[in-house]
Amino acid sequence: MKLYLDTANLESIRRLNRMGLVDGVTTNPTLVAKEPGEFEELVVAICKEVNGPVSAEVVSQDHDGMVAEAARLARLAPNVVVKIPVTPEGLRATKTVSSKGVPVNVTLVFSANQGLLAAKAGASYISPFIGRLDDIGQRGMQVVEDLVAIRRNYGLKAQVLVGSVRHPQHVLEAAKAGADIATMPPEVMDRMMQHPLTDSGLKRFLDDWQRAKKEKPSLTA
Ligand code: E4P
Repeated sequence: MKLYLDTANLESIRRLNRMGLVDGVTTNPTLVAKEPGEFEELVVAICKEVNGPVSAEVVSQDHDGMVAEAARLARLAPNVVVKIPVTPEGLRATKTVSSKGVPVNVTLVFSANQGLLAAKAGASYISPFIGRLDDIGQRGMQVVEDLVAIRRNYGLKAQVLVGSVRHPQHVLEAAKAGADIATMPPEVMDRMMQHPLTDSGLKRFLDDWQRAKKEKPSLTA
């Protein structure tokens, strides 16, 4: 499974990319609004940093506006993916933009049927938001499982990109469900690395090593 970062924070992207963990990046208007710098400038900087797809979202709500924004975004870098919401106008824009060869990530997907329509319209990525579904008492992972099954049944080209990931368990469940990609805040990727037994195990190794250096008699003594 591919792992993406769901952030527009360049420092976090650089830090985790240096470990070879970042297959791509997703942003959205909320994430971009949190960071300094102008939107397009930021997209260019992220695209340079990451050797993989970078989703940048349109903010127009009508077909023509979305298509014009998509054309601008696609010119910024070869790895830009245009993020379009799964509204009727958004689906129409997905068809127009994807048929020009620009990859589209259809976002704000909360049901498998919305995802199916997105795939039909030509999306390269479908983004179900699982955390937000969990928040309202539904099982977000169900949408992922359904979409993975639909993709397999019909050999759809659209990849299932799990969004609104809140904790490492979401990543694990997405992987077990066979999702293509999970996108997560940097803190979730950090937490995936951590285990208290790793820390205590390492401490014990180092303590034993230091003690042995001081106390162990030499073989030749
Ligand atoms: C995905 O592409 C979205 O940017 C994101 O995962 C939304 O997650 P949130 O529910 O944490 O805002």
